[in-house]
Amino acid sequence: MNWNVSLYNEKHGFVYQYGSQLIDLLNPKEGELILDLGCGSGQLTSKISESASVIGIDSSEEMIKASQDLFPEIDFYQMNADSFSFDQSFDAIFSNAVLHWVKDQKTTTTNMFNHLNTGGRLVVEFGGYGNVATIVDALRWSLKNHGFDENAVLERWYFPSISEYTSLLEDAGFEVSLAQLYDRPTLLESKNEGIKDWIEMFGTHFFQGIDTKDKAAILTEVQDKVRSTCFKDGQWHADYRRIRIMAVKK
Ligand code: BEZ
Repeated sequence: MNWNVSLYNEKHGFVYQYGSQLIDLLNPKEGELILDLGCGSGQLTSKISESASVIGIDSSEEMIKASQDLFPEIDFYQMNADSFSFDQSFDAIFSNAVLHWVKDQKTTTTNMFNHLNTGGRLVVEFGGYGNVATIVDALRWSLKNHGFDENAVLERWYFPSISEYTSLLEDAGFEVSLAQLYDRPTLLESKNEGIKDWIEMFGTHFFQGIDTKDKAAILTEVQDKVRSTCFKDGQWHADYRRIRIMAVKK
């Protein structure tokens, strides 16, 4: 996936703004080495670096370049969640709003486990079961309505239930100490085009092979369809549901 870093930072800064609460749960301490898995443009990595040593990785070359430019004192590497590899292991692995993009979840949980020290903790949050269902249901409906049946059934994201994801972690060897699934309606920064912008940023894969005119009509139709649920007090919200997990390598 190619990321538009400036669109991400200008209009989707909420991704890392919400993530700072997760750092409180991580509770990074002096002397620790922490891996930020899927560091985006590095804002949370930088926050973690105020308390501990940290390395950031991301699958996107553009994001790694942006992180390195913004925070030259931190080490960033372009690596994937299911195949990252370091000689050293970590006291904690942290990941915010990333794991729903990962295709091979089983390999990833094992890889995370193998890169933790004994006693090391995993602190992650991402899209949980039912995440953005209002938006995605409307998008699938509209794609079908315009005759794009194949696009309508594309699956790209992983939004697991607590039981599904904690079983995966336990199979990898983790002991899960906290699991939450909660609604977190997320304010979108664009006043007029909130849902359209969100889909443009994150849902481009749904529009493969669709021309600009059809795409514009679908985006308008989707935004109109979700208005009663997603437009509140003059502002657009995405119907995010988060799964938040803390697990330990015993
Ligand atoms: C999320 O953070 O929940 C999310 C972001 C992009 C696409 C799908 C979900």
